[in-house]
Amino acid sequence: MSKPLIVVNFKTYESASSQNANTLALAMESVTSDSVEIVAVTSAFDLSSVSENAENVKVWTQHLDPIGFGSNTGWLHPDTAIKRGAQGTIINHAEHKVSIEHVANLMQMLPEGFPICACAADVDEAKELAKLGPTYIAVEPPELIGGDISVTSADPTIVSDSVKVVKEINPNVRVLCGAGVKTGKDVATAIELGAEGVLLASGVTKAQDVEAVLADLVSLI
Ligand code: G3P
Repeated sequence: MSKPLIVVNFKTYESASSQNANTLALAMESVTSDSVEIVAVTSAFDLSSVSENAENVKVWTQHLDPIGFGSNTGWLHPDTAIKRGAQGTIINHAEHKVSIEHVANLMQMLPEGFPICACAADVDEAKELAKLGPTYIAVEPPELIGGDISVTSADPTIVSDSVKVVKEINPNVRVLCGAGVKTGKDVATAIELGAEGVLLASGVTKAQDVEAVLADLVSLI
């Protein structure tokens, strides 16, 4: 059984940007263990610095574009991201939606085994993304993102239904869930619902005591 994941999306929170990104990733190091995989999803600007400083925390990018070397301006180039330390990526996040073709084209360009976590707003989108066979699908109802109610209590069936639908299409795809996740109990409930981990942001980036929140998140795994 693969280890459950705790994926912290740094977004553009000031508390998770620039030097604060390094500080947060080092705090995340303190909860790494053999029983859980901890992932920091940094901005493109902080990727190389965080990946140089964080030894046991995986570092992913928040988005990538299906482009190669050449005359392209302002896009996120997968090859360079990997050379600068990216160990995986999120794609199609609710805050940066792309077409299904973008996801498919990106997957074609990424090296074999490079983790890609495709975000879905609902069960139907999770079903469509499952047909592409990404490493992970993270179901995150947009209306719950940034809020105080975890998807695992506000809408548990979206998690269990997404797991069921995705596994029917491709049993190798691992399902995560996110939006409003704050506590170890939310993580444990996500796993009870069939998810293999969670995506979260504000529960960590807005925490008064980051270390305490991180310790709680892994406390029931
Ligand atoms: O990528 C995860 C993120 O969208 C969830 O946000 O603040 O509800 O944990 P939040």
